[in-house]
Amino acid sequence: MREGAPQPARLVVLVSGSGSNLQALLDASADPEYGARVVAVGADRDGIAGLDRAAAAGVPTFVDSVRGYETREAWDAALTRHVAEHKPDLVISAGFLKLVGAAFLEAFADRYINTHNSLLPAFPGMHGPRDALAYGVRVTGATLFFVDAGVDTGPIIAQVAVPVLPDDTEETLTERIKEAERRQLVESVGRLVREGWTINGRKVSIP
Ligand code: GRF
Repeated sequence: MREGAPQPARLVVLVSGSGSNLQALLDASADPEYGARVVAVGADRDGIAGLDRAAAAGVPTFVDSVRGYETREAWDAALTRHVAEHKPDLVISAGFLKLVGAAFLEAFADRYINTHNSLLPAFPGMHGPRDALAYGVRVTGATLFFVDAGVDTGPIIAQVAVPVLPDDTEETLTERIKEAERRQLVESVGRLVREGWTINGRKVSIP
């Protein structure tokens, strides 16, 4: 790195599954010009490909399963502590299938983002592509947003549209959305860390 060059921003990524969005961030951050690196990966379950991807990249991991704690609040406190230990500039939920609690939201207010596989506010929740197909929309997509206390309701950073094709199944549509979603995530995270951001009500600005 050039002398005096700014340190890359610290990303903590939370995953619950295959981790292809995580992989896109790991690949992008191999370039020093990207401006960020993944310093830790957290999960709510063991045995997922996302954790293997982190390990293969030499990134430390931690697992906090809700079942491992007496209460949801205790889980939330532990997750908050484990994420905070890595001093993140930005925390990214990339296919993390848990809603965090008040302690987490307070600790990472305005720097916890989530990628969702629909064009919000349409089709929030666990089954974005399935719900879009069932409704019969012709266009769906992916949304990146700052997480608030609701379900997929926070201020929107970026959206990308993806067509629904006549022969789509839940699987084909999910995969087509994920390709666009990964590109959007990498591009938006890069812009956020390099340029900064402000949130004014529902309006997110990247200068
Ligand atoms: C993404 O499409 C995300 O929107 C959804 O789950 C998927 C995660 O994929 N909630 P991956 O684990 O990053 O491959």
